[in-house]
Amino acid sequence: MMKKKILITRRWPESVETELSKHFDVTVNKSDTPLNTMQLQSALKNYDAILPTVTDKLDKHVFEGIDSSDVQTRIIGNYGVGFSHIDLDCAKQLGITVTNTPDVLSECTADIAIMLMLMTARRGGEGEREFRSGNWSGWRPTHMIGQKVSGSTLGIIGFGRIGKETAKRALGFGMKIKVYNRSKIDDKTLNAFNAAQVSTLKELAVSSDFVSLHCPGGTENTNLIDQAFLDAMKPSGYLINTARGEVVDEEALVFALNNNLIAGAGLDVYCNEPNVNASLLQFDNVVLLPHLGSASQATREAMGLRVLENITHFFNKEAVPDRVC
Ligand code: DGY
Repeated sequence: MMKKKILITRRWPESVETELSKHFDVTVNKSDTPLNTMQLQSALKNYDAILPTVTDKLDKHVFEGIDSSDVQTRIIGNYGVGFSHIDLDCAKQLGITVTNTPDVLSECTADIAIMLMLMTARRGGEGEREFRSGNWSGWRPTHMIGQKVSGSTLGIIGFGRIGKETAKRALGFGMKIKVYNRSKIDDKTLNAFNAAQVSTLKELAVSSDFVSLHCPGGTENTNLIDQAFLDAMKPSGYLINTARGEVVDEEALVFALNNNLIAGAGLDVYCNEPNVNASLLQFDNVVLLPHLGSASQATREAMGLRVLENITHFFNKEAVPDRVC
């Protein structure tokens, strides 16, 4: 039987590319740069499956700019858990299945959220900059005083897999957990994390020392963290974002930082990646990472294997484990 034609839009760990090639007729985007609209449209016309990443914007313009009868793609196997860069309505209309890679990256992303909490509150980035620039004059009792993380209160927005992994780690730091989640979390789950669910964002903002975002991106959560939310946060509070850039109104965040409405922020994701709002670069109390949430070897391999599993099930006409539409 002829192998299905698939396109991997970015370079993956070698072991996974090799594994995919055993089962499919694989084309790899050797330039390892994001595909533009025309390239994505051409991919939809020429491949049975496209395996994109967050950098490939499969939006309305891409889908609506081509004749539906020209579309060959039957499945989009996203390499990543977040899929707000793919227009699901358009994909659905064309009968294209979309999958993602949940679970396998939850631990690593939670690790980064905790790292950002520690780096911001304990001034890790700032300290390293001082050290490397040769400006450290030695230990003194008042040098680079931060805020204690252990025992503080963590407010989690979005209590899915990554939110729970973050809570699990925070419990090790003796943190008190508060949760804001659109649906009601059952008592058994809340008790397991010694967590309390609050019913409004404001309640979470006013009572948390750290607010960590673990909700999906996309239109439903765009600018969820707005001026009102940041105003409500404690002046000693930190905002941590490992979810999606659009969840935070970056202008409002800059305003909040400029006016000391919050103590700092730790960001791994941005509205307009790979660009960053230049104003954020000026703050010493902001830690900026280049979207590293899932960036460990084991996780990136596991993500690739999860995509392989999804498309294999799909082409074998079996139930697809991680179907999102
Ligand atoms: C994810 O899995 O959503 C990562 O942010 C990369 O897309």
